[in-house]
Amino acid sequence: MKALGIDIGGSAIKGAPVDTLTGNLLAERHRIAVDKTMTPAQLAGAVGELSAHFKWRGPIGVGFPGAVEDATIWTSANLHPKFVGCDGAKLFGKATGCPVAMINDAAAAGVAEMHFGAGRGFSGKALLLTLGTGVGSALAYQGVVVPLELGHFSWKHGKSAEKHIAASVREEKDLNWKEWGGRLRDYIAEMERLLWPELIIIGGGVSAKHAKFFKYIKPRAKLVPAEFLNQAGIVGAALWAVEKK
Ligand code: BGC
Repeated sequence: MKALGIDIGGSAIKGAPVDTLTGNLLAERHRIAVDKTMTPAQLAGAVGELSAHFKWRGPIGVGFPGAVEDATIWTSANLHPKFVGCDGAKLFGKATGCPVAMINDAAAAGVAEMHFGAGRGFSGKALLLTLGTGVGSALAYQGVVVPLELGHFSWKHGKSAEKHIAASVREEKDLNWKEWGGRLRDYIAEMERLLWPELIIIGGGVSAKHAKFFKYIKPRAKLVPAEFLNQAGIVGAALWAVEKK
């Protein structure tokens, strides 16, 4: 079984064909730079270009950085506001000429990590957080992944937590690892108080540098970096394309 997995992010869309039985990429990942001013039509053009790059014919899974209900996109905190209310399966299906299944980007990463990565074989309660332009979240229990929007938990003066703890904030505000790690510690302590995960998986590009900031977090749960690092979203979206019922 194979499917094309596409991960839409705030600065780039990335994709690759995936062997959904092993989670392996079947070709080198292709990346197209995008920015948050791009309209749905423009971004769909980039998705079409990505699929054409692989001459793809078959199922496509698209991970989107917003709340997704079936195929409908309901929030777009870090992309164009015109995405709100869009049918993603129709929009990207038209652009690629292929059947498209939509999933939240962090839930896609969760699906990949629970199947083949850091949560493989774990059936307890796991919390996955992706730290990038925004903060993505999903909870898994007995292997079932539930998309969440914990990046928008109201934090310090009522702002979305992601405005304090996203990896992009560390870069923009030039926070050192200790300062940023301290922010993460406080946020994760609150999530533990509410959710009591046994395992916390941290994804997003910055997870490759986990040695620099994990030491400041000190959670009750076991804390591990995502094994797929930045590829979890691609692999999980592809799995979703073949698994969605
Ligand atoms: C969005 C989430 C998304 C996360 C990471 C947040 O701003 O609301 O849906 O998972 O960013 O991209």
